[in-house]
Parts: sequence; structure tokens; C-alpha cells
Amino acid sequence: MHDFGVGILGTGIYLPEKTLTNADLEKMMDTSDDWITRRTGMKKRHLLDDDKPACTMGVEAAKQAIRDANITPDDIDLIIVTTETPDYLSPSMSCLIQKHIHANKAAAFDINAACTGFVYAMTIAQQFIETGYYRFVLIVSNEGLSRIIDWKDRNTSILFGDAAGAVVVGRVKKGYGIRKSYLASFGDLGHNLTIPCCYVSEEDRQKRRKEMERTLWQDGSEVFTFAIRAMTDATRRVVEAEGKTMEDVALVVPHQANLRIINGAAKRLHLSDDKIAVILQDTGNISSASIPVALNFSDKKGLLKKGDIIVMVAFGGGLTCGAALLVWGK
Ligand code: UT7
Repeated sequence: MHDFGVGILGTGIYLPEKTLTNADLEKMMDTSDDWITRRTGMKKRHLLDDDKPACTMGVEAAKQAIRDANITPDDIDLIIVTTETPDYLSPSMSCLIQKHIHANKAAAFDINAACTGFVYAMTIAQQFIETGYYRFVLIVSNEGLSRIIDWKDRNTSILFGDAAGAVVVGRVKKGYGIRKSYLASFGDLGHNLTIPCCYVSEEDRQKRRKEMERTLWQDGSEVFTFAIRAMTDATRRVVEAEGKTMEDVALVVPHQANLRIINGAAKRLHLSDDKIAVILQDTGNISSASIPVALNFSDKKGLLKKGDIIVMVAFGGGLTCGAALLVWGK
């Protein structure tokens, strides 16, 4: 159909300098390094200073990705930001980032598919590029989750961190890039993970401490069960749609929510540890930034070879899930 593929041309990340270790959390609440490590696999997370807007992380990640792709900000046609923690509802995070990186010719909008945001954004970018409408799309997954956490709630606060990951998407050689993708939403399960914004229901209030009405709340075990099923199913769908088996996959880059979720899905998929990118021990759950940050780490480690089949897979609030299979062509 086309004489080109659509793939990742460059990646960039930003992790704030300040970190919060399990030992720090032990001093803040009734928890332990042992519990957190055994139940989640996490050891530390990065936290952005309170006085900085979250978009500062995305700006740095975007600049790196643009450099890595060997283009200039003027080449960017569209900026898509995925975030659950916009600094403002208006201007959008994508417009804030546009301003700071001087991508003056770009259109810009935010999407919200929670932790699945990056997979959704990749699929959106692919459509724009395949049709020839745009040439270069910048995706920035920009998450400042420390801002929507109740630091007295040990069920959630130990899990999340701040980070941004960015990629430039554009034309690659035919046969490379995104080959298959699958997006799904389950709105009827949305009550299992909520972050109220402009409206707070009585139900939302009752789930939270007073004055903490707009913090993240989740039913951990419901989301846990959904996550393993959704990640397994979404991965299988894109691999089978491409006419491949798990044996053909070089690396799975999953959303980093809990090592037990990743291992649970890997077991069902008969996937060995060396084929899974895991970074959550150093980052915690960074929502939609998980996949682009893990991708960047894998690229820097030389784990992504031209022609490798890579599966990115995520689940999250909404509830949502999705996967994309790509042939690495950077
Ligand atoms: O990207 C966002 C999507 N969200 C997720 O992916 C979350 C998915 N869920 C999970 O990752 C897990 O359900 C959690 C990590 C949130 C919880 O782990 P769990 O193994 O499901 O623990 P639990 O909620 O069943 O709690 C077991 C026990 C409870 O004590 P009792 O009732 O058995 O006495 C909790 O009170 O562990 C206790 N507990 C803790 N203990 C020490 C809960 N949190 C903590 C804690 N430190 N931080």
C-alpha cells in the first residue's frame, strides 16, 4: 500500500534528580522495604520538585528525542502529549511543550488513555503519517503522579513516580516500524481506578480522606486481575495478527505497574525474563511514560537491534489496554 513504514526515529527521557527510596517511605508510613519489594518489585521512584510545572520534564525529553531523530523542532508537524497530570486543562500540556521547544509549525493536543496513553498515541501518529497528512509526530508521555497521590495512603503512594518519555515518529523503510496495533477500552470497569478532576461524586469522596478528594484511588486487586488478563490478551492479539509466535518476539516492553503483573503475563505467554524490559525497580509506576522510558533504556543498552520484533503493551485507568507490535528500524 505504502512504500514506507511508520516507526520510531528518536527517543528521549527525563527523570527528576530527587529520588524516594523504600527506606524513605518506611519513615513516612507503616510500610517496609521487604513488603514493597516482594509485592511490587519497586525500590525507588523519582520525584519532581513541587515548585516546577510537570511540563518541564516533557520539554527535556522532547528535546532529546528531536536530537536523537536528527531533526529540528521546526520539522515537527504534530505534538501529542499523554498525561494524567496536566499542569493546566488549558493550555494543554502539548501546547506548553510546543512553546518551550519552539516547534512553531506543529499542531498540538493531549490525549488521556491513562497508562495506556503511549500505545494509543503511537497508533494515532501512525494514522497521520501513513495517510501522508504529516511527516513527523512528536509524542511526549509526561507524568507527574506525585502530585495526585495521598501520601498518607500506603495502598497507592508507594507505587508511583514522576517521569517523561518522548519519541519522534516518522517514515522508516518499508517492512519496519509499527506493523500491528490493538486498542481497547472497558468503561464499565472505570470505577476501579479514579482521579476526579472538575467533579467529585459522593462515592469519590467516601473512598478518600477529607481534603484529598482529587487524589488517585484504585481497587488494587481488581486492577491487578484485569491487568494480567489484558496484557496477555493484547500481546497475543498483535503477535497472532502479524502471523508470528512469541518465539519470534525479541523484546516485550510492558507498562511498569507491578513486577508480579509483568511476571504473571509473561508466564501465561511463556516468555522468558531476558525478553522483557523491566525498569520499575528504579522508577516505580510512571503511568504512560513507562513504555517510552523503558524503550529508551533498552536502546541505550544496545538491546534493540534493527529488524527485531518488539511488542509494547499496556493497561490502565478507563479501564483501557492496548498493544503495538513493531519491527525496530531506527
Ligand atoms: O498503572 C496503574 C494501575 N494500577 C495497578 O497496576 C495496581 C495493581 N495492583 C497492585 O499492584 C497490587 O494490588 C498492590 C501493590 C496495589 C497491592 O498488593 P496486594 O498484593 O494486592 O496487596 P493487598 O492490597 O491484598 O494487601 C495485602 C496486605 C493488606 O493487609 P491485611 O489486610 O492482609 O492485613 C494490606 O493492608 O498488605 C497490606 N498493605 C501493605 N503493607 C505494607 C497494603 N499496602 C501496604 C504497604 N505496606 N504499602
